[in-house]
Amino acid sequence: MASRNGRTPGKWASRGRFIVLDGPDGAGKSTQARWLQSELERLGIRTLLLREPGGTSAGEAIRKLLLEQREVGLSALTEAFLFQAARAQLVDEVIIPALNKGTWVVCDRFTLSTLVYQALAGGVDEQAVEIMSAVATGGVEPDRYLVLWVPSKIGISRRAHRANDRMEAKGEKFMRDVAAAFRSQAERNPSRYRLIDGSGTPEEVRQLLWKQIQPLLPVQTRARKTKSQERRAKSQDS
Ligand code: TMP
Repeated sequence: MASRNGRTPGKWASRGRFIVLDGPDGAGKSTQARWLQSELERLGIRTLLLREPGGTSAGEAIRKLLLEQREVGLSALTEAFLFQAARAQLVDEVIIPALNKGTWVVCDRFTLSTLVYQALAGGVDEQAVEIMSAVATGGVEPDRYLVLWVPSKIGISRRAHRANDRMEAKGEKFMRDVAAAFRSQAERNPSRYRLIDGSGTPEEVRQLLWKQIQPLLPVQTRARKTKSQERRAKSQDS
C-alpha cells in the first residue's frame, strides 16, 4: 500500500525487516529489544532500535507531553491523536528511509499499543483508532509483530521501583484491562501478532523470541548461533 507521501518501503529482498515488540508494561520489551538489536548486529545486520512514542525530535517532545507532563489534561482521544502524530513522524522520517537502505528496524511498541491503551482500555472507538493507525503508518506493517505478555500482577511488580507514567497512573484496573486486551488481541489475530510468554527468565524469553526472528534472517546467517546458544554449547562441552 502506498504511504500518504507516496513513500513506501521497497519490496526487494535486500530491504530491511521491520520488527515490533509490544505488550503490557513490565513484560521486558525494552531489555529484549536491546538484546535483539545487539544479536542482529552481531550477525552483521545493521539494526536501528526505536521506541514509541519517540525516535524523532517531534516524537520525543510528544512523548514528554504524553507521559511526563501529567498536569496537562488529555482525554483518551487526544492521547490517541498525539501517539499517532508521533508515529506518523517516525514512519516517514526514520522507519521508511531505514528499511529502504537495508537497515533492520526493531521498534519498542507500535499500533497495537494505541488500540489497547486508548481504545480497548481507554474507551476511544476501536474503528476510529484503526483508521488513525492506517493513516499514520501509511500502511507500513511490521514483518514480525511480537507481543511479549505477562499478567498485570507480574508487570506491576517488575515496574514497582519506577515512577508511574501517565498511563500507569491510571491505576491497577486500567493496567489489568491493558494486559487482558493485549492477550486477547494477540490470540484472536495469530496471523498478525505472535504471542510470547514473557514470564520466564530473560534467557528463556530470548529463546522464544529468537525462534520468531530466525525465519526472517538471510539464509546465510540462519545457521549461526546466538550468543546464549554459543555459551550453552561451550558449557556443555566443558
Ligand atoms: P514505555 O516506553 O515505558 O513502554 O512507555 C510508553 C507508555 O506509553 C506506556 O505506558 C504505553 C503508552 N502508550 C500508549 O498508551 N499508546 C501508544 O500508542 C503507545 C505507543 C504507548
